[in-house]
Amino acid sequence: MLVIIKKDYEKLSKEAAKLVADRLKKKPNLVLGLATGSTPLGLYKELSRMHKYEGLDFSKVTTFNLDEYVGIPPSHDQSYHYFMQQNFFKNVNLDPRYIHVPQGMAKDVDQFCNWYEDRIKSFGGIDLQILGIGSNGHIAFNEPGSSLGSRTRIKTLTPATRKDNKRFFKKNEEVPKYAITMGVGTIMDAKELLLVASGKGKAEAIHQSVEGPLTAMCPASIIQMHKEAFVIVDKDAASKLQGTYVDSWEPITIK
Ligand code: PGA
Repeated sequence: MLVIIKKDYEKLSKEAAKLVADRLKKKPNLVLGLATGSTPLGLYKELSRMHKYEGLDFSKVTTFNLDEYVGIPPSHDQSYHYFMQQNFFKNVNLDPRYIHVPQGMAKDVDQFCNWYEDRIKSFGGIDLQILGIGSNGHIAFNEPGSSLGSRTRIKTLTPATRKDNKRFFKKNEEVPKYAITMGVGTIMDAKELLLVASGKGKAEAIHQSVEGPLTAMCPASIIQMHKEAFVIVDKDAASKLQGTYVDSWEPITIK
């Protein structure tokens, strides 16, 4: 695991985008795992800029999103389909046939989850998975207590998560109760992980994930076991770390 500390949100977003662009240039048919949430927005903005002004080409890329609410149609402005469309997909030249976001309206959710796992495998697995982290250490909708070997499945949202989400919906009854999420095991199968975190609100979760014990109560702590994980954080999110870390993912060259 490589922990990279940048001065602020803008610099961490650019550093993360540089890593994604590097992998994409090396493998034009990259299989890219995507995350929603406010933290990757700067990364998506920078990738969109690189596409527009530097010709970064997504035409051969396949994407798999981590999660989606159950019972919310893709046209709903709080669906993760909508989020991705507005913040990334519409800005780049991805082939819509190779974009995958879990189907929250699937009639048979279990069957869908098995299909999603098989579909990831059929593309040779995810090359690089982008991740955010919850202040409680969750990754995707794998809340504390999630099995560290879990696969794509339906999860009940915790009361705390539903309360947090209430502000985005007109009525209480509209707040989703369930989500489809890649499991911790699914995420760990990605060849590389790129976790981004910003702000003091994430400092404890980052400390626990990077330096704390490996525990299902902090699902993100599993990344300590991944062979190729990058954790890019700003100074605030790094404020509780005790180790010494670097400021770039690029290999050190000794002259
Ligand atoms: P955030 O969410 O980026 O909006 O803080 C991250 C997460 O909960 O995974």
